Amino acid sequence: MTLENREIWRGFASDNYAGVHPQIFQIMQSVNAGHEIAYGDDTVTTELTKVFKQHFGDAAEVFPVFNGTGANVTALQAVVRRWESVICADTAHIHSDEGGAPEKMAGLKLFTLPTPDGKLTPELVEPMLEGIKAKGVHRPQVAAISISNTTELGTLYSAAEVRALADFAHSHGFVLHMDGARLANAAAALGTGFKEFTTDAGVDLVSFGGTKIGALAAEAVVVLNDEALAATVPHLRKTSMQLPSKMRFFSAQLIGLFENDLALSNARHANAMAQRLDAGVRELAERSGGRVSVPNPTQANACLPVLPFEIITELQKRYRFYIWDHNTGQVRWMCAWDTTQEDVDGLLASLQGALGL
Ligand SMILES: Cc1ncc(COP(=O)(O)O)c(C=O)c1O
Repeated sequence: MTLENREIWRGFASDNYAGVHPQIFQIMQSVNAGHEIAYGDDTVTTELTKVFKQHFGDAAEVFPVFNGTGANVTALQAVVRRWESVICADTAHIHSDEGGAPEKMAGLKLFTLPTPDGKLTPELVEPMLEGIKAKGVHRPQVAAISISNTTELGTLYSAAEVRALADFAHSHGFVLHMDGARLANAAAALGTGFKEFTTDAGVDLVSFGGTKIGALAAEAVVVLNDEALAATVPHLRKTSMQLPSKMRFFSAQLIGLFENDLALSNARHANAMAQRLDAGVRELAERSGGRVSVPNPTQANACLPVLPFEIITELQKRYRFYIWDHNTGQVRWMCAWDTTQEDVDGLLASLQGALGL
């Protein structure tokens, strides 16, 4: 195998399996000439600050980082003191897929809650608080609630749902953090800009994701409305090993995602592909005699049906995807910015064949 003749394939494993959108390479190339000050004092990063203020409000401050785990760890460190904790859903990436980085690097405790659909609500969180408060120094006191939008189960918080959680968090003196690894998918699904369901809905800080929606590697911590908090992030980013020296290329990628609404249009496409998958799998589920189900609504770019294990094995011979829950047979089919209708129809045809329908 050489790089020239490597096999080209696409699957449904992750939006991180997709390549880089050509416009991102173009914008990185366009800022390549000459020298720029390293570590963020460059003209491209200055421009990025303006772009994020346009999309998240005048008070927003943006801090590019290498990856999503780094964004989450840096953001949470900024709001949690050494004896404090964060409440999240038990499906949250910070709990289930970051190798314990928030606990290890930020030194915090995560309190997790089971949810029906990956989403927290004030009603779900409230009972947990009583127990934590009652235990005083014996239990790490809560500093923040962290939610993911879109969620790890492909569901979506509306602006009103975010607002309810923000008001609830603030009434207890907590901050609300949003893991926005798929923030563009959320914006596309909600049909609004980014500000409406973040800054305007009372979110305090966001981990903004660019990589999954077409960037090469570009995420950011965004402090939405707190100058003092924003002042701490550069120090935490550095000590968390998340400060890119050639920052201009990270900032350029993030700017590129907003040029001609690239991130939003990529997200609209990925979401539409997941909708097509959802419609197809639900139709097959109806004819499957109870062998297939889709427990959650498909509200963004992921569809998570429950399949018999022998069908999963059969499908995985042709398509890569992950088993989300090894107990139930729930799988995760993730659509990316480059997923095609043919990809979706191919997977559905394979499922139909494997089910013998
Ligand atoms: C919800 C969520 N948050 C954060 C991340 C970022 O992870 P990484 O550190 O791999 O960029 C991911 C990636 O899968 C994710 O799904």
